[in-house]
Amino acid sequence: MTRIWSVDPLNPDPAVIADAAAVLRTGGLVAFPTETVYGLGANALDEAAVQGIFAAKGRPATNPVIVHVADPEQVSRVAADWPEVAAKLAAAFWPGPLTLVLPKRPDVPAVVTAGGPTVAVRCPNHAVARALIRAADVPVAAPSANRSTELSPTRADHVAKSLNGRIDAILDGGPCPGGIESTVVDVTAGVRILRPGLISAPMLEAVVGPLTEGASEAGIAKSPGQMAKHYSPRTPVVLTDGEPGDVSGRVYRWKLGSDPLQAAADLYATLHELDDGRFDRIVIELPPDTPEWAGVRDRLRRAAAAG
Ligand code: TXA
Ligand code: MG
Repeated sequence: MTRIWSVDPLNPDPAVIADAAAVLRTGGLVAFPTETVYGLGANALDEAAVQGIFAAKGRPATNPVIVHVADPEQVSRVAADWPEVAAKLAAAFWPGPLTLVLPKRPDVPAVVTAGGPTVAVRCPNHAVARALIRAADVPVAAPSANRSTELSPTRADHVAKSLNGRIDAILDGGPCPGGIESTVVDVTAGVRILRPGLISAPMLEAVVGPLTEGASEAGIAKSPGQMAKHYSPRTPVVLTDGEPGDVSGRVYRWKLGSDPLQAAADLYATLHELDDGRFDRIVIELPPDTPEWAGVRDRLRRAAAAG
């Protein structure tokens, strides 16, 4: 049985938060809203609890999870080092949709980091998420609250559709405003984007100067959804460059609006809605290849990847 608790997204009831925090503290799984997508939380320092996340999601053990903290001061509970660039980026973008990959502390269970030497950390900008983490008083491991490879959830009913019966509770705090997952940035050697998101490359560069390009030398666990197929609806997605394309059957043609933040906010919710069996294909016109669109383009490509 999965309990569903409704909370005010801006001012959640402390009694409900306390109940949800108790579930986390005793090794349970709680889905909660963040400013990007819903996360599936467990105590990051409890190995068995984090294993529960992987089981509920059907997530491959090779894909590490992000640890969420209520305040930047909590980072030291999971990270062994706090480089100057990390401090600058956190000062500029936390709380917010930016995940920093840092050297991990030895007591962070290997399951969190897929056995790697680094841990991904972010401080979400959502009152429910922060109240929950504060009340639990532990760092909270939380991948997106969906079965592995499926669409990410931006509403509580998306979570329920995917994970009902597999997790202990869902905090329903309404729709997530951001709509796509955080930008993941490796700060262990230079500053390198591992997964584009709402914080764009120019926004990062304005704070830390030119970014480090190319794949990382470490070659371990640098896989932010880097499995090509990820974030996918069941209905096949076809991307076009404006050409009408040669597609037959019941086709939904979609051109995103001109505002990248609005497009991100609506992306998964629209795909969830279109993915109900009405269409044989969803044909989407790719937005321009500019830094502001990088996060949305990345998710569209993954949604369209076969197998
Ligand atoms: O916005 C978000 O980031 C959402 C909300 C819930 O916070 N979370 C999220 O988690 O998208 P998830 O697990 O679906 O994606 C986390 C990504 C994964 O693709 C993973 O490969 C990458 O972050 N990641 C996690 N730990 C890492 C590490 N130590 N090194 C490199 N990449 C890491
Ligand atoms: Mg995910």
